[in-house]
Amino acid sequence: MSFKPASWPRRLRSQEWYGGTSRDTIYHRGWMKNQGYPHDLFDGRPVIGILNTWSDLTPCNGHLREIAEKVKAGIWEAGGFPVEVPVFSASENTFRPTAMMFRNLAALSIEEQMRGQPIDGAVLLVGCDKTTPSLLMAAASTDLPSIVVTGGPMLNGYFRGERVGSGTHLWKFSEAVKAGEMTQAEFLEAEASMSRSSGTCNTMGTASTMASMAEALGMALSGNAAIPAVDSRRRVIAQLSGRRIVEMVKDDLKPSDVMTKRAFENAIRTNGAIGGSTNAVLHLLAIAGRVGVDLTLDDWDRCGRDVPTIVNLMPSGEYLMEEFFYAGGLPVVLKRLGEAGLLHKDALTVSGATIWDEVREVQNHNDDVIRPLERPLTPQGGIAVLRGNLAPNGAVLKPSAASEHLMVHRGRAVVFEDIDDYKARIDDDALDIDETCVMVLKNCGPKGYPGMSEVGNMGLPPKVLKQGITDMVRISDARMSGTAYGTVVLHTAPEAAVGGPLAVVRDGDMIELDVPNRRLHLDISDAELAARLAGWAPSHERPASGYAWLHQQHVEGADTGADLDFLRGCRGAPVGKDSH
Ligand code: FES
Repeated sequence: MSFKPASWPRRLRSQEWYGGTSRDTIYHRGWMKNQGYPHDLFDGRPVIGILNTWSDLTPCNGHLREIAEKVKAGIWEAGGFPVEVPVFSASENTFRPTAMMFRNLAALSIEEQMRGQPIDGAVLLVGCDKTTPSLLMAAASTDLPSIVVTGGPMLNGYFRGERVGSGTHLWKFSEAVKAGEMTQAEFLEAEASMSRSSGTCNTMGTASTMASMAEALGMALSGNAAIPAVDSRRRVIAQLSGRRIVEMVKDDLKPSDVMTKRAFENAIRTNGAIGGSTNAVLHLLAIAGRVGVDLTLDDWDRCGRDVPTIVNLMPSGEYLMEEFFYAGGLPVVLKRLGEAGLLHKDALTVSGATIWDEVREVQNHNDDVIRPLERPLTPQGGIAVLRGNLAPNGAVLKPSAASEHLMVHRGRAVVFEDIDDYKARIDDDALDIDETCVMVLKNCGPKGYPGMSEVGNMGLPPKVLKQGITDMVRISDARMSGTAYGTVVLHTAPEAAVGGPLAVVRDGDMIELDVPNRRLHLDISDAELAARLAGWAPSHERPASGYAWLHQQHVEGADTGADLDFLRGCRGAPVGKDSH
């Protein structure tokens, strides 16, 4: 930690718009006054953009306007000038073909909003899966002082007395219906119990994972991640974050001061401890690429490999975010990592204190929800990074969500050329498949779907489910919802759509998965593999125009975070020239 606060007072970038008596200044200031702002608000105090991902069509963030009012209150209290700015919002549960395709578009548009507007710092008001990384990517690219406030998770769902986890039970109930263990009417009845309050998924899905990543990176105030959306303390932390961002601007405490390599290593270890989503791999790689930190897929395995999963939350465990909060939330996890020598204690946070100073005094209130390191849910949590002739650039698997008996497995490939092929054939009892087979899904990677949809945890065939089998090895270049589970190999790179080895797997090939040795192998000779690759040609039509075209032309592989190639790196926030 080597941060030295800037001197204050000094001229801020917002004064390039609002300071002085020039014609342009009067033009900018005069327009703002039509909202009733008094003249002295333009006197050089920090102007803070509250970048709000509220949208009626992002229900997980549907309460963020209310949260924004608390952020505003904090900014006013600290002597800042809050301006609320609606930004691109992509809901995981609605946006087609997949919200992931728009993460980079959101980051691009928000980066330009931050750069092109008269703000000195930003509160990133986020929640649903892609909203958190897209705003962090934008903040990293502009390097304007920024603090994350998430909307918080929903309260627990309950159906007939049992906890119901967002997403996790959708997959479970859907498979139970296919297996004949649940009626369609019961499934519909369960629907209403899944989302009983404002907030994000109540499991340790991608939203909760990314909220935890923001906190572990030091980009949110301590304790932010787990506070339920409707708990009064969510409003309190929003107000405190509003106060804090004003001080951050005065100190010039920037994302690049906080999101260092050590902070990313803390986040990777935290992801292992919480049993976090595989999506965090993509997002952290992309954020690191923006802020200029050299983070690789191998860092995930190196840092996360020996971290036990100690947070007993669905989809890996049994509880939900509400219980995680009552147990003490992420600060307890960070404290446990610190005590075990698995945390860079000196990493700086947006509070101005180190991460260790923030958590050293916290107490755990439930050892079953946040387990001691000696009694973990999975001894080697983290994210396993697999390599081999089937994934030369890597693939990932989440051990805490996988089945122990499948971690070393050899099976016959049953290949689906794309998601439509899978949907057309999976329910057919004539499909030649049993529980020992390896299901292979192609053309669902960053360029493939396009956008890398969350279809990697493809449901098992009904005829296998009816035998009481609940897991099989599945391999794809797709992603998986953070709320999902299973022995699922994801993000296989290079992807099938660019002619990676996944593209040439055929029905009947034998595939070997060896998670302890991090190996993914297609059991054909090198010569045969080379011949198949030489004969490969793209099989799917590519978008000819629009954003889909831009995305497909420029999106990088999953192994480096699937960002657009021309958006990597920090471009800062120069104030630019006035055109009036
Ligand atoms: Fe939005 Fe889970 S779908 S948080």
